[in-house]
Amino acid sequence: MRIAVGSDHAGFDLKATVARHLVGAGHDVVDLGTDTSDVPVDYPRYGEAVGRAVATGRADGGVCVCGTGIGISIAANKVEGIRAALVHDVTTASFARRHNDANVACLGGRTTGPAEAIDAIDTFFTTGFEGGRHQRRVEEITGIESPTAVTRATPAGSLNRTSEEEVP
Ligand code: RB5
Repeated sequence: MRIAVGSDHAGFDLKATVARHLVGAGHDVVDLGTDTSDVPVDYPRYGEAVGRAVATGRADGGVCVCGTGIGISIAANKVEGIRAALVHDVTTASFARRHNDANVACLGGRTTGPAEAIDAIDTFFTTGFEGGRHQRRVEEITGIESPTAVTRATPAGSLNRTSEEEVP
């Protein structure tokens, strides 16, 4: 796979570890920065860069790392078509793929150790989406990206999306 990776200073060391591992496993890794842990940088631009690489098809998937993985996942998720998931371990990485069809895995350089991160990333890139009921839910997420879509509660209490309705 072609995998885009990006981090801020706080995620740099873990990103480098994960990138080395991915290259060793035979993946084509595109590192979108940052290039050192010594110079503080703002994580949004790196989350955006990874998100855009995946959304445009320049990469098949992505890995983002900041201190907690939270900020960079929020940033990556602003890119249309991106489902960036904060993963801490094999379990969260597996569910992110099986249920959410996540296309970017986000890690916390200050919260997840290298061994757990590598196991999580291996799981992320070898686990398939289950589809079925999860397909509908992922499509609902994609529908949120439409500026004219609205989400409303049905009498049964579940949420249905009506893409034709204009938001007032
Ligand atoms: C940088 O100190 C830190 O705020 C950043 O890496 C990240 O954890 C934000 O969510």
